[in-house]
Amino acid sequence: MTNTLQHAAQKLEHWHTLAQSYFALGAPLHPSAEDIAAVARFVAQVNAAGGGHGVQMLMWGATPALAEMQWPAGSTMLAVDRSNGMLNLVWPGDIPQQRQALCADWLDLRVAEHAYDVVIGDGSFNCLAYPNQYQQLAAVTHRALQPGGALISRFFVKPAQPETLDAVFCALMSGEIHSFHAFKWRLVMAMLGDQAINIAVRDVWEMWDQAQINLDKLMRVTGWPATTINTINNYQHSEARYSFPGLPEIRQCLAEWFEVSQVYTPTYELGERCPTVMFRPKQSPMIPIEK
Ligand SMILES: C[S@@+](CC[C@H](N)C(=O)[O-])C[C@H]1O[C@@H](n2cnc3c(N)ncnc32)[C@H](O)[C@@H]1O
Repeated sequence: MTNTLQHAAQKLEHWHTLAQSYFALGAPLHPSAEDIAAVARFVAQVNAAGGGHGVQMLMWGATPALAEMQWPAGSTMLAVDRSNGMLNLVWPGDIPQQRQALCADWLDLRVAEHAYDVVIGDGSFNCLAYPNQYQQLAAVTHRALQPGGALISRFFVKPAQPETLDAVFCALMSGEIHSFHAFKWRLVMAMLGDQAINIAVRDVWEMWDQAQINLDKLMRVTGWPATTINTINNYQHSEARYSFPGLPEIRQCLAEWFEVSQVYTPTYELGERCPTVMFRPKQSPMIPIEK
């Protein structure tokens, strides 16, 4: 097997592994009720503008909380995810004429032009390499959307003022952080500092391992069960890379295809780094889809 194929297989393995502990993960990794409500508001606007007959949706990923939302009557959803593990273990199942899933790579997907009213995703772009793959997905998304449609996606964004690693580990051991999953994002973003955007999740595990955290003390201070803390071990042997641009970088990177129309910033822990953004497609982007 060539290196590229091996690399792709190992990346797929990452989400296959995560699929097994998907429901053990928590906010802010999965969309919360606030995020779902924001998506519903944005979709309702597109639906109303289209005459209220429901919306044709494309979803980047298999996010069950989005798949199982109360959608406007007459709506349909096609969810696309390249991980069979996520589709078998996490996707809540197809419903004829309502929702179905497709196992495919977003970046290779040739969708019918202007076939969808809404394209949604939850942290989907954060799985891609910034900026090239963001632009590739923006071009695919733009092609899929009808002119009056919208791209609605939650992003994990790094703060304008990066935290130091010391500050993050101090906050962890003093019990200031309420979700271990929020801690993981704060650790990753502190590792990025103000320059970097893309990161290998394996390096995050290395940083955690080097910190030699007293787990018994951590469980005493936070009350978190070992099963939750052990989710960071999913990163140990993973080939996956994540990206965490700031909102200005996302806006600029997608500007050829989209303009930001609305941003919802949730109120939960680390919500200021988990905005849901509604983009409107620009009429005639200059850059064609390139591999
Ligand atoms: C939607 S994102 C983030 C997870 C999200 N926060 C949630 O709660 O569901 C994760 C999913 O994207 C999928 N994925 C990542 N890159 C992909 C690509 N290039 N093509 C298709 N699926 C991809 C992974 O397989 C994984 O199931």
